[in-house]
Amino acid sequence: MSRLNLTHIRKMKAEQNKIAMLTAYDASFSHLLEQSGVDVILVGDSLGMVIQGQESTLPVTVDDIIYHTRNVIRGSESVFVIADMPFMSYSNNEQAISNAARLMAEGGAQMVKLEGGAVIADTVKQLTERGIPVCAHLGLLPQSVHRLGGYRVQGRETEAAQQLIADAKALQAAGADMIVLECIPAPLAKQVTETVDVPVIGIGAGNDCDGQVLVLYDMLGLTIGKRPRFSHDFLLDTGAIPAAITKYVQDVKSGQFPTLEQQY
Ligand code: KIV
Repeated sequence: MSRLNLTHIRKMKAEQNKIAMLTAYDASFSHLLEQSGVDVILVGDSLGMVIQGQESTLPVTVDDIIYHTRNVIRGSESVFVIADMPFMSYSNNEQAISNAARLMAEGGAQMVKLEGGAVIADTVKQLTERGIPVCAHLGLLPQSVHRLGGYRVQGRETEAAQQLIADAKALQAAGADMIVLECIPAPLAKQVTETVDVPVIGIGAGNDCDGQVLVLYDMLGLTIGKRPRFSHDFLLDTGAIPAAITKYVQDVKSGQFPTLEQQY
């Protein structure tokens, strides 16, 4: 069976079919997510925290992401797989091209995800011109947690909101084929989703985005410490892991997740 590709995902936005995305890091979950109707798996650098027990995503390496991406690819046949580019693995264009190429050639990813706004537009252009599909990540950027002073909602002030819209436009113009918006006010996420043509996936960004993503361990109630307000324990609702994943997919597709209480 061939994998879902960007043409399918673009069509989902055009036809207003919500995109269900979750993180996964191994073959068993990759298989289950695919069977449950998840469209896109993100091998996120959140693995640093939920798998490795690190305090942030910063220690994650390109080799770590390749290892987990390979496992996810082995466990699935049809789901679209995105691999995160770790902290400082794209600090210049040459480094970005060589690391992204490894995530695709060695890991098997179909797309790479980079955190940052217009400042990384040239890197995005260099990658996409070489045939490497890019998902851009805006809003709360976990790799910049020390600069941001914590995991906080972004884009609340007018200037920051305008900058975020300008960033989204610049990244689309540079060739980005998808945008993740993390932890921003729902009206701002709606505006970005309506402004750009590429699919916009939200996490803590309200339910007007083209799709949703959550960290798998958060939506299964396994968060160490406080679960983010925008997440939800689907396992508590359903009592079984396969049912929890199916409910997440149903709730994303029907627009029932996230609720007003799960957005900013
Ligand atoms: O690493 C990750 O899991 C992510 C999601 C939070 C979008 O980037």
